[in-house]
Amino acid sequence: MTAASPNNPIDIAELLAFYASAGVDEPLEDTPVNRFAEARPKQTERAPAQAAPVRESRPPERHASQPSLGSGRVPERPAPPPGLDASHVPDAPARTMPATAAVPDEGQVLLARQLAASAATLDELRQHMAAFDGCNLKFTAKNLVFADGNPNADLMLVGEAPGRDEDLEGLPFVGRSGRLLDRMLSAIGLDRTSAYIANVIPWRPPGNRTPTPHETEICRPFIERQIELVNPKVLVNLGGPSAKTLLNTTEGILRLRGNWRVHTTASGIVIPAMPTLHPAYLLRTPAHKKLAWRDFLEVKAKLRELAIG
Ligand code: URA
Repeated sequence: MTAASPNNPIDIAELLAFYASAGVDEPLEDTPVNRFAEARPKQTERAPAQAAPVRESRPPERHASQPSLGSGRVPERPAPPPGLDASHVPDAPARTMPATAAVPDEGQVLLARQLAASAATLDELRQHMAAFDGCNLKFTAKNLVFADGNPNADLMLVGEAPGRDEDLEGLPFVGRSGRLLDRMLSAIGLDRTSAYIANVIPWRPPGNRTPTPHETEICRPFIERQIELVNPKVLVNLGGPSAKTLLNTTEGILRLRGNWRVHTTASGIVIPAMPTLHPAYLLRTPAHKKLAWRDFLEVKAKLRELAIG
């Protein structure tokens, strides 16, 4: 095997692809560090100006580069290498990650629970979430993606986590899968004025990787409280991760979908919930759109029944 070369565009492209699939999509330092030079056997002493700082290595987080069956996650493809000149690496945005957020612990889950429970309104909940530093995803995301739509709606839909478009706009489901979701809603006579939309995870995972179980546990109290405060007549879980998190099940989405379940809030409110396929999954698997269509018809019928009854 030949050593990777900083002068070979293919080596650079492969390295960037590796970084992107591992979720590394933010520069951390203002000055680039030449890892190729570090990997080469020491032939000459490095000039002091080029010396790379010694960094402590951290245990890697589990990163899934491929979406699971029921997931709406589509890992991002890396951008083509900007060129071989390391000076083209853009400056890192000035962000600081508190030490407490580097490795989320049980304390953060507890704090999230307390903050969520203390929010008396959706506005307060949003403020608590915006001020919460216990989830590492916050520090790579550009925006908190809290919700879109009508908080007084009878229907609430919950997805998995924001993607790039949602992160940029600070609103859920505004990208390609959001446009499909809008068409699905319109097919049953609804839109964002008659539905409320949120995600289990309110910050975009870097590179669109799958959120880790720990990140999900940290964010769970917030979405549970959000559901409780909205108190919709019907909940729709978009995709496996939303269904598993909010319906307390380990069953796969293809088995779950189409069958009514219940979401029980912390204060004991029982909300009928319909797990269905995630729009991003439907974009990859259009043959399954008919299944989602059936699920949405069920939702429409349930909303009618509850409005009449
Ligand atoms: N996928 C999700 O699960 N949520 C979004 O907001 C966008 C895409």
